[in-house]
Amino acid sequence: MQEIAAAQIRAAEPTVTAATAPSLDMSALFARHADDCHELYSRYGNEQLVRMLKLVGYDVGFCRGEGQYLFDRNGTKYLDLLSGFGVFAIGRHHPALRAALASVLDSEMPNLIQMDAPRLAAVLAERLLAQVPYLDKALFANSGGEAVEAAMKFARAATGRSVIVYCDNAFHGVSYGALSINGDESFRSGFAPFLPDCIRVPFNDLSALETALIGGEVAAFIVEPIQGKGVNMPADGYLQGAAELCRRHGALFIADEIQTGLGRTGRFLAVEHWNVEPDIVLISKALSGGYVPVSAVLMRRQIFDKVYDRMDRALVMVSTFAENNLAMAAGIATLEVLASERLVERAAATGERLMRAFSAMIPRYELMREVRGKGLMIAIDFARPRSLKLRAAWDLIEAARQGMFSQLITIPLFTDHKILSQVAGTNSHAVKLLPPLIVCSADCDWMIKSVEAVIAASHRVPGAAWSLGRTLVANYLRA
Ligand SMILES: Cc1ncc(COP(=O)(O)O)c(C=O)c1O
Repeated sequence: MQEIAAAQIRAAEPTVTAATAPSLDMSALFARHADDCHELYSRYGNEQLVRMLKLVGYDVGFCRGEGQYLFDRNGTKYLDLLSGFGVFAIGRHHPALRAALASVLDSEMPNLIQMDAPRLAAVLAERLLAQVPYLDKALFANSGGEAVEAAMKFARAATGRSVIVYCDNAFHGVSYGALSINGDESFRSGFAPFLPDCIRVPFNDLSALETALIGGEVAAFIVEPIQGKGVNMPADGYLQGAAELCRRHGALFIADEIQTGLGRTGRFLAVEHWNVEPDIVLISKALSGGYVPVSAVLMRRQIFDKVYDRMDRALVMVSTFAENNLAMAAGIATLEVLASERLVERAAATGERLMRAFSAMIPRYELMREVRGKGLMIAIDFARPRSLKLRAAWDLIEAARQGMFSQLITIPLFTDHKILSQVAGTNSHAVKLLPPLIVCSADCDWMIKSVEAVIAASHRVPGAAWSLGRTLVANYLRA
C-alpha cells in the first residue's frame, strides 16, 4: 500500500527542470523584453517614473553593467556615478561576489532553518565587528530602513525612554519609523500621522540638540555623519560634541552609516574622520555587493542585552530573511574585496584628486558655489550668479521650481557625456557624485573633463543649457 502511494507521489512530481524551462533563463527573458519594458512597467508598475525618464532622456535601455560602467541598447558606455544610490562600492558583477554567491547556490548548505545558529551570519558579524572594535554585537536586517527601525527599538528598550532626536534634512528611509525621523517634508507629505516623540533639530546645531536632550526623555540622537541629501558636512566638532552631549544626558548616539559606511568616505566608517565612537552604527547598501539586500545594526553589548534579556525573548526581534546565506555571503565577500583591493584607501585618494580638480574650477565659473564631501561622496554646489544675463536666466527657471538648475548639469552630463549622476536632494542646487570606489584614473579624467564642459556650457546665455532649462520649465508647468 505504502509503495503504491510513494509511486503515485513520484509520478506526480514535476518533470520540468530549471535547465529545460526556457522561461527561467533570466538573460533571455531580459533580452526578450527590451522593447516593451517601458510599456509593461508603466502598465503594472510606476508609470510616473517612466514618464520622467522619457522627459529627461534617460530612457536609453540599459542592458549591461560591468564594474563602474553601464551599457545601453546601442552598446554605448556610461560611467555610473549614482552606484544604485550607493550600493555598488565594489562595482557591478565583481567576480569575487559572483563566486561567493555561486558557491552558496551550488552547495546544499541549509538556509533559514530559524531554529539554528546561522554560521555565515556568525562569521559576517565577527568580521564586521573587527572593523568597529568598540562595538560588540550585530543584528542583521534586509534594508537600510529596517536597520533604522531596529535601532529605534533598541534605543527605546535600552534606555526606557521614548524620544528620538533627528536632524533637519535627514534621510533614514521611508518605512513608518524611519519616515517619522525623516527631515525632508517631500517624503513625508501625505503619510501623517507619524510616530510620536520624534524631535527634529537643525543639523550642526549643538545647542538645539542640548535643549532637546535636557528634558531627560531622549532615547537616542540619530545622525548621518555626512547627510546624504545635499552631502551636508558636519561642522568641526559637531559629531564629537553631539556624542558627548548624548553621553552626558544618558541618550544613545546612533550613526546612520548606511550610505557613508564601508569605505565610501575614505574611511571604513565616516565617523572615523572625527574620532567618534557611536553606541550604535547602521550599515547596509554596499554590504550587499549590489546583489543581495542586507543591513546590519552594530552596537554595544549592554544595548543588545537589554532586548535579548531572557531566553523566552530570544526571538523578540526577528526578520524572516535577515540572516539568509546569500546575503551573508554577499557581506563576507564584499568585506574581502574592500580589503584585498584596498578600496577604502583608494576612495580617499581618488576623492582627494576629484575634489581638488572640481574646487579649482570655482574661480572660473560664477555659478559654482562650493565643492564638498569626503572620499567618493562629493557634491558640486551651485548658486544664483551675480552677472545680469546669467542671473535672469537662473531666476526664470528657478521661479518654476527651486533646484531646477541642477538638472541643467545632470541631464547634459548624461546625454552628452554619458555620465549618470543625480541632483543631491529635493530643491537642491547641488549635483552629487557617488562613484563606485573602484573608479580609475581614466574615469577621473572623464569626470573632470565632462563636468567642466557642462559647467562651461551653463555659463553661455543664450545657449543649449538654458534652452533645455526652458523646455524643462514648460514640461514641468504642463505636468
Ligand atoms: C543614510 C540612509 N539611511 C537609510 C536609508 C534607507 O535605506 P533603504 O532604502 O535600504 O531602506 C538610506 C537610503 O538611501 C540612506 O541613505
